[in-house]
Amino acid sequence: MTRYLVTSALPYANGPLHLGHLAGVYLPGDIYVRYLRMRGEDVLYICGTDEHGVAITIAAEKQGRTPRDLVDEHYSVIRKNFEEFGISFDNFSRTTREGHYRFAQEIFLKLLRKNFIAKHDMKQLYCMNCKRFLPDRYIHGTCPKCGSEDARGDLCESCGSWLEALELVDAKCSICENLPEPRKTTHWFLKLNLFQDWLTEWFAGRQGWRENVLNYCKGWLKDGLRERAITRDLDWGIPVPLEEAEGKVLYVWFENLLGYISSTIEYFSESDNPSGWEEYWKNPECRLIHFIGKDNIVFHAINFPAMLHFLGDFTVTWNVPANEFLGFGGSKQSTSRGTAIWMKDYLEYFPPDPMRYALAINAPENRDTDFSWIEFRARNNELADVFGNFVNRTVKFLHRQFNGVVPPAGVSGQEEEELRELINRARVEIAEKIEKFRLKSACAQAMDTARECNRYFDRTRPWKTAKENSERCAVTINCCLQAVNSLRLLFAPFLPFTSEKIGKILGISPEKALSWKEIGIDCLPEGHVTGKPEILFQKLDEGFEKIYEKEDVPDTNIPGAFEVLDYENFMKFD
Ligand code: MF3
Ligand code: ZN
Repeated sequence: MTRYLVTSALPYANGPLHLGHLAGVYLPGDIYVRYLRMRGEDVLYICGTDEHGVAITIAAEKQGRTPRDLVDEHYSVIRKNFEEFGISFDNFSRTTREGHYRFAQEIFLKLLRKNFIAKHDMKQLYCMNCKRFLPDRYIHGTCPKCGSEDARGDLCESCGSWLEALELVDAKCSICENLPEPRKTTHWFLKLNLFQDWLTEWFAGRQGWRENVLNYCKGWLKDGLRERAITRDLDWGIPVPLEEAEGKVLYVWFENLLGYISSTIEYFSESDNPSGWEEYWKNPECRLIHFIGKDNIVFHAINFPAMLHFLGDFTVTWNVPANEFLGFGGSKQSTSRGTAIWMKDYLEYFPPDPMRYALAINAPENRDTDFSWIEFRARNNELADVFGNFVNRTVKFLHRQFNGVVPPAGVSGQEEEELRELINRARVEIAEKIEKFRLKSACAQAMDTARECNRYFDRTRPWKTAKENSERCAVTINCCLQAVNSLRLLFAPFLPFTSEKIGKILGISPEKALSWKEIGIDCLPEGHVTGKPEILFQKLDEGFEKIYEKEDVPDTNIPGAFEVLDYENFMKFD
């Protein structure tokens, strides 16, 4: 048994999440952990909301409310939407909890004592009009690296560069659009330059990492790591735990990463094994995996591993499967605001699994991908026509011909052998793909397997043998039922709600754990009594998305008006 600690990026609690987030970060993480659990591995899936930083304060200011009020609302909504989509975190915490404050401050002090943190005077942009310093997103301008005009003070989303506000070209205050001026202030810096050599060597040894992530990091290292400020002049955040640092808080990208650890600590603190978190975070055998969007690569693949390594006794990152962005309706980059499909709006009309399937098949694994309602409809109907149809025709037949009782397996012919072999191969190959984070291809192969099951049904023609050769008919239906059970398991990481339904239809006890090993094995004995048939998927007609076009949904956008659904969309403020 291998131990895994899997995380998905802590979402900012500054708004609801949209389908781009789901596709790039949470769904891949969930598919991966559900698979590992079926393998019987020891897995923890950790997340929570990221509740500090300028992403939060700006959103609060724009809405004329306090940051506290804003994050309280969105924490609940985000948490609920994850549950409704079946994202199966073991713990979902918040970075505003006391335990996180304590932990982050402790780590800051530890790094300071180890001399990895230095204090310096520096220049920061100050807005004369707003009368305050402008950290991070309070500044926007042109990215010095890629020329995008949409860069913020600390991060360019287009190229993923981690910036310093003073490097931005034509920097302006995000609140009043005035030109800021540099002013002196004091901050604490993480001496990332000390990590350069270790990281270079470490990267040379990374295997099984995505090409895009490796290239990105190697490029970043080639530019050379510099000291970076990890404190801010802000009043919303975790106070820097030093007397001389009055009024300063920890930079959100210093403390949020530590949220993965504090969320794990919280999980165990409520158990009878409060130090259990160390079995994951202080265990070189534990595989630490971060599912993130591509704009988070620097922090997860450079800063965090270095911090973990130099802290001394922490588990160091095993892999960072970062995804690209999911666009909507043909446009690559978001320009307009609030043009996303919110998870909560989708759920008002449709069940979670068809979207899980559509997004898994369209996962932006290697490049930005595009998504549309037309694609969603095609995928939904594919589920109904292929997977749903196979389950449905098998179960219906079973009830009509055999009263819902599993008939004898009889003697397999070549067709049965071929189908079994195909399913066994799917078990092995899909596992390999998931383990390599190729979830899109894994999901497609599950569907191809269902397609072959339909072909088997067609070829063996049970509707004919029912009249002419009832023994053959029993062989077919038995084989199909075992295949339905195998598909239930093959699809379980992708379509958990559907798998549960199929379990009921097959009359399998909900207590029975899902097991990957059982794929391809005849688990339904002769004489087993199945449950009631039920339709798994509803087909959608052309124009179905009109259902969305009602005007009384606040904050919702009409699909017809969508330009783009991009992963970071809701975090942009201008
Ligand atoms: N809130 C950040 C974002 O949405 C992600 C933070 S990941 C963290 O871009 F774990 F490091 F917090
Ligand atoms: Zn850029």
